Order: sequence, then C-alpha cells, then structure tokens
Amino acid sequence: MCRPSGVRRARPGNSTPVKKSKMAKITYIEHSGTEHVIDVENGMTVMEGAIKNSIPGIDADCGGACACATCHVYVAPEWKDKVGQAESMEEDMLDFAFDVRDNSRLSCQIKVTDELDGLVVNLPEKQF
Ligand code: FES
Repeated sequence: MCRPSGVRRARPGNSTPVKKSKMAKITYIEHSGTEHVIDVENGMTVMEGAIKNSIPGIDADCGGACACATCHVYVAPEWKDKVGQAESMEEDMLDFAFDVRDNSRLSCQIKVTDELDGLVVNLPEKQF
C-alpha cells in the first residue's frame, strides 16, 4: 500500500505505549442464578459488555437505540442510586419489557464508569 510522502511507518519497539482503558467489573446474574463477572471498558454500556461477552439473557435487538426493551436488567438494590434513574424515553420503553420492577433498567442506557466498578445486575426470566 502506498503512503503519502513524508509519512513514516512506526518501527516495532519504537512506538508510544498504548494507553490501557479503564475497566469496571460487572456481575451479570442469569435468572437461573449463573453468575458472569466481566471486566467492561469504561464508556461502553452494560448491554455492550454483555453482548461482547456473549452473556445469555440480554438480546439487545435494537443495538442500543433504546427502541426494543430486550436489554432489560434488574439493578441490585445497593447499586440503584449510583446507577441513577431512567430518563423518560427509557421509562416509556420499559413499558414493553417483561416483569418490570422498581429496579428495572435498560442496560443499553447504563454507561460504565469507574463509579460502577462492582455493579451487579440480575437478568429477567425472559426479555419479552
Ligand atoms: S438494546 Fe434495545 S432498548 Fe436496549
């Protein structure tokens, strides 16, 4: 492949170290009780962490557009305040989810940050 003149190729061992992304440990508990403890990169959503790691029980049919409610999770009570409240669009979409409770959230709307390191979410029996 041709490169524009003046552009030098990085030499092995001579490159700037790649900055490692921060991760938060998220525990996904299936309805059956099976736990999956996953390191999820900050900036991703809890849904993306599940899909990337093939956690069963989160479908995410709309890909995170808050338009399907198939990424429904229950936030563990001790994490409810840190995760925060659903916004109105998410609240409307939750009306379509199965067995909605006080601690229900759409995992595509929960952004992973350092503050959520240790978060526990339970998955519903089914997504719809
Ligand atoms: S992935 Fe569709 S609403 Fe979350």
